[in-house]
Amino acid sequence: LATMLHRDPAAWGERPEEFDPDRFTPAAVRARPPHVFKPFGTGARACIGRQFALHEATLVLGLLLRRYDLHADPGYRLRVAERLTLMPDGLTLRLTRRSPAV
Ligand code: HEM
Repeated sequence: LATMLHRDPAAWGERPEEFDPDRFTPAAVRARPPHVFKPFGTGARACIGRQFALHEATLVLGLLLRRYDLHADPGYRLRVAERLTLMPDGLTLRLTRRSPAV
């Protein structure tokens, strides 16, 4: 259900499959109904780790991106692996240290 909701052109525009971080600018988030993005599920059985996960992701990304630039193979084409969560199959990132080193 969430997979369909997260790809609904009525909510996400003409190319819902396209990776576009600008979909999550504060203005873009405010401009759409609140219930069209449910990465943590919904209702009584929704994720109880949501706040922890969001804090952890913010911390880890902040620490990593402060020190490293991340490079993906530009030729990589998305293959979605469905396990407990959806993830990009075979995607690897190369890290280079940002300068000046911090
Ligand atoms: C980005 C990270 C995470 C995502 C995207 C995520 C997503 C989800 C989703 C979609 C569900 C299922 C909701 C349903 O069945 O409708 C769920 C359930 C659950 N999650 Fe998470 N989760 C994340 C991190 C975590 C963390 C860090 C914890 C614990 C510290 C956690 C604990 C749980 C538990 C216990 C349930 C079952 C709740 C229940 O059935 O009552 N999750 N999560």
